[in-house]
Amino acid sequence: MNPFVVIGYRGNETFCDRENETRALIKNLKNGRNTCIISPRRLGKTALIYHVFANLKDWVCVYVDLNLCNNLDDFLKSLASSLANIPSAHKFSFLELLTSLKFSVEMDALTGQYSVGFNLVRPGDNKKSVSELLKIIAKQKNVVIALDEFQQILSFKEAQVEGWLRAEAQQHSSIRFIYSGSQQRVLHEMFGSNKRPFFHSAELMTLTSIPKDVYTNFIVDQFKKGKKSISKDVAGFIYDYCLGFTAYIQLVCNHLYDDTLRIVKEDSVLTTVGELLKQYEPFYLKLKKPITDMQFRVLYAVAKLKKVYAITGNEFMSAAGITNPSSASKAIASLLKYDLIYTDTDASGKEFFSIDDVLFLRWLERQSI
Ligand SMILES: Nc1ncnc2c1ncn2[C@@H]1O[C@H](COP(=O)(O)OP(=O)(O)OP(=O)(O)O)[C@@H](O)[C@H]1O
Ligand SMILES: [Mg+2]
Repeated sequence: MNPFVVIGYRGNETFCDRENETRALIKNLKNGRNTCIISPRRLGKTALIYHVFANLKDWVCVYVDLNLCNNLDDFLKSLASSLANIPSAHKFSFLELLTSLKFSVEMDALTGQYSVGFNLVRPGDNKKSVSELLKIIAKQKNVVIALDEFQQILSFKEAQVEGWLRAEAQQHSSIRFIYSGSQQRVLHEMFGSNKRPFFHSAELMTLTSIPKDVYTNFIVDQFKKGKKSISKDVAGFIYDYCLGFTAYIQLVCNHLYDDTLRIVKEDSVLTTVGELLKQYEPFYLKLKKPITDMQFRVLYAVAKLKKVYAITGNEFMSAAGITNPSSASKAIASLLKYDLIYTDTDASGKEFFSIDDVLFLRWLERQSI
């Protein structure tokens, strides 16, 4: 098995570091505190949640991905499906429970996963059904519910979901919550503003890159275990190339490991990255299609500088090869709309613009304007 996991979580052996974060999360849970994990995209929030779950003995762990939820019906379905798939002795009681609550539960014969529908539950009763589920979950001894991409509740079509969910969470004080998400500004506002329902209801944990030294040791060890070899320097080169972003480091290492070469050198890293960029190029060209020449210049400059604080500053304007500050501002607004760049605030509260797809960023850097 390739030890560089690129989808999901496969256990302690293939998981790198996050020891402090895991310890802190478990400590919070055991002391009755909720946690909100905040980080840019693809650093490993979801995998960390699964890692914590895997290292919690005798807890009922419920993972709900809000990413694809647009309303309370979706949320209810996700919560119910998560319960149906809890891999423990609790499983069957939850399955029975769901059926008794008139959910329809079906098992996928191929994956063995249960999916839950609620065609039998009265329409419009989603809040009541979530409430009922939480009430029953709360009867279990040690329960944690992770709500991943939590900021998504703000775009639910129903009004005041935030206030309602906070009230529900408060009512069931025996359930611990892990909230997690990548829209840092939004989450800081949700948990840090005294005007918002979730104010101070969770400890904030900012997830940053895994330290270079730790990650490179992990990479070297994983290769060694597979009777292959990579030097710490070359592993460091991969880390820097991927700007410390876990998902991309894993992807590049996964491909290098798959290579028949026993010894990985820097030039094989470059070849692998080149192949990946070539593979994704048609997709990147499609992303580029709707944007104007001016917008492309600005996008290129964001890729060159990686993180841009002053969009009308000299350094940025000259990287984009433009002279008019208002053109830069307009282009940035369009690129945000196309989701080609994102904006956020750093730890000191300063706003910046960046690209969260490292390979796209590296591809852009190779273009000329
Ligand atoms: N500590 C780790 N060690 C090894 N692999 C990891 C680690 N953390 C994450 N990964 C891997 O990196 C990839 C991205 O991780 P994950 O999906 O958890 O990130 P995320 O922050 O939740 O991303 P997104 O913002 O897209 O939801 C996954 O393939 C995961 O298996
Ligand atoms: Mg995630």
